[in-house]
Amino acid sequence: MTNIATPTKLIELKDISKSFYLAGGLEVPVLHHINLDVFEGDMIAILGPSGSGKSTLMNIIGGLDIATHGEYHFAGQAVDKMSGNELAELRSTDISFIFQSFHLLPGKTVYQNVMLPLIYQRSFTGDYDEYVTHALKRASLEEAHWHKKPNQLSGGQRQRVAIARALVARPKLLLADEPTGNLDSKTGENIIDSLTYLNEKYGTTIVIVTHDESLTEVVHRVVNIKDGLINETAGKK
Ligand SMILES: Nc1ncnc2c1ncn2[C@@H]1O[C@H](COP(=O)(O)OP(=O)(O)O)[C@@H](O)[C@H]1O
Ligand SMILES: [Mg+2]
Repeated sequence: MTNIATPTKLIELKDISKSFYLAGGLEVPVLHHINLDVFEGDMIAILGPSGSGKSTLMNIIGGLDIATHGEYHFAGQAVDKMSGNELAELRSTDISFIFQSFHLLPGKTVYQNVMLPLIYQRSFTGDYDEYVTHALKRASLEEAHWHKKPNQLSGGQRQRVAIARALVARPKLLLADEPTGNLDSKTGENIIDSLTYLNEKYGTTIVIVTHDESLTEVVHRVVNIKDGLINETAGKK
């Protein structure tokens, strides 16, 4: 990236550790002393094998779970000190998720699925149709599919719906957990192309959690995670 001005820090993790506690109080340490900064407009991959702590880290970054130790700031706000309601507000306005299994509602059309985050966001005052249409176009889903149900679409098309739904509220951060995991390699590449396009054209900050090493080719930075410890390398882009 050729950004001469000082980039703005969107995510700042300082000495983050996370343990789970089993019945009987047995501690399962999962993340160890993680320090990570992500800047606005960044596109990074968190790369590591299954069980290394990727989803746990993503859930903390996304405000779905809280760390056992350490500090987390998002856009300058102390996430570790937020109440449940404040976390919910952060998730509904600033952070979106794309999961491996798309989590689309089967009884609703594509268009209705994409509108849902705006309906959940009680403070939304924009034009629903404008936001939904814009998101579907950004996710490159052809208009012919907009009024179909998810089960009438291919895996790749469903993933585009999931991307449109993640974008509709115009979040600062898009988090994708194994976005290519359930797709054949060609469809997976198309999805990564859409994410790259969003990052380049609209400056959306993107964090992809994956065990797929080919994604290191398309991101700016790679954060390697193993047994809950990270070290960082440059991406190839
Ligand atoms: N709720 C939980 N309770 C206990 N252990 C958990 C919980 N969630 C995850 N773990 C453990 O933490 C480790 C990392 O899991 P996860 O973050 O899902 O890894 P990844 O996404 O890299 O596959 C695993 O050993 C897993 O069993
Ligand atoms: Mg995982």
